[in-house]
Amino acid sequence: MAVVAAAAGSAVGLGNIWRFPYELGQYGGAAFLILYVLFVVLLGAPIMLSEFAIGRLGQSDASGSFRKIDPRGKWWLIGVMGVVSAFLIMGFYSVVSGWTFEYIYQAFTNQFAGKDATTLASNFTEFSSDTVRPLLWTVIFMIIAASIILLGVKDGIERSTKFLMPLLLVIIIALGIRSVTLPGGIDGLRFLFQPDFSKINSSVILSAMGQAFFSLSLGMGCMITYGSYISKKNKLGHTVAEVTLLDTLVAVLAAVAIFPAAFSQGINPGQGPELVFITLPNVFSNLPGGQFWAILFFILLSVAALTSIISLMEVVVAYVTEEFKLKRVPATIGVVLAVLVFSTLSSLSFGVWREVHVFGMTFFDLFDNVTSKVLMPLGGLFIALFAGWVMPAKLLKREISNEGRLKLRFFNFYLMLIRYVAPLGILLVLLNQLGLGKWLGV
Ligand code: PFF
Repeated sequence: MAVVAAAAGSAVGLGNIWRFPYELGQYGGAAFLILYVLFVVLLGAPIMLSEFAIGRLGQSDASGSFRKIDPRGKWWLIGVMGVVSAFLIMGFYSVVSGWTFEYIYQAFTNQFAGKDATTLASNFTEFSSDTVRPLLWTVIFMIIAASIILLGVKDGIERSTKFLMPLLLVIIIALGIRSVTLPGGIDGLRFLFQPDFSKINSSVILSAMGQAFFSLSLGMGCMITYGSYISKKNKLGHTVAEVTLLDTLVAVLAAVAIFPAAFSQGINPGQGPELVFITLPNVFSNLPGGQFWAILFFILLSVAALTSIISLMEVVVAYVTEEFKLKRVPATIGVVLAVLVFSTLSSLSFGVWREVHVFGMTFFDLFDNVTSKVLMPLGGLFIALFAGWVMPAKLLKREISNEGRLKLRFFNFYLMLIRYVAPLGILLVLLNQLGLGKWLGV
């Protein structure tokens, strides 16, 4: 049970409540949602199952598991790429996690009360563009995450996921009801559920695919690492179904809580990373007992972020301890210090280094885009190829069916997805974004 809860804890995080709504807002609403769900079902679920199987069979870290299964191949490099992705993701994820701490603080000191959307927006800008304050929260957050990793994660994560996750769901549902009943809220629902297919273009498709990988923690060895801890008795197919459903549910409910409120208050749905940090405080500010709800919500959001960042850290820590025979304590401290360099670059992207651009993006956007739109899909592509074409199908089936003890009705369908649909799908989306479709005239 503990590891299943940990996998859910990894998947459900800022990706669902912060990133999903803002990407959806920027990339056209319902059309994005439909694409997203398609990617989750056709690519996400089969790749998650493959990652679990690779990890549980290989019994090693994100890279070592490939080597155990195919000692002569070069597939272990996928794991190395995953470790790089984990670093870059932590580099911006830790900053947004730090923001959640600031917002717990602001909720405690009742700073949302009576403020309108414009004031809340300028408060966010003022805070996030500060040089020191956001970084301080990031450092505190990383120290807490590292302590949990060092104190032995399993119990803590299991307890927090089993108890706090349902609570998070209840709060998001309550916020959703409140949001939908605000004047003009219905326009937000329309934006979310009434698709305008003319909005679909190659960037929308790529960002929906990237979000599916990001939200399910796929394509970078996280679920391989956790898979290596999963008991041999666990029904991997069921676990995948549970984690995927829960993750998608939280994302959709978060969007239901955010968009009607945003439309009701005249907040631009394409606002960007600050969307949730402006919209929900605005809901709290006009709610009876709003301060209480705000405190609870931001605490739960930071816990969700914590269980996700722990899984990212675990990818890197497991890799360095197993591959370089380092002890866990120095490995963890080293990882945190290195991540903080990236965090600093990301955090300053909102302030003094706003104008510093690499490939036309700020550091924050660069880390975010490179991971979810390039590295994770590429990792997913190679993982699909490895599970579908390198591992003998018999071996894969034996692992997923717990040595033949489980009847697998879905195995052939899964094999088709992992052999053909997932690799071709990912490749087409990436090539399409590079404009190759235009050259070929399709
Ligand atoms: N899935 C997490 C979220 O949605 O917040 C983010 C994440 C965690 C991505 C762990 C990748 C990962 F390995």
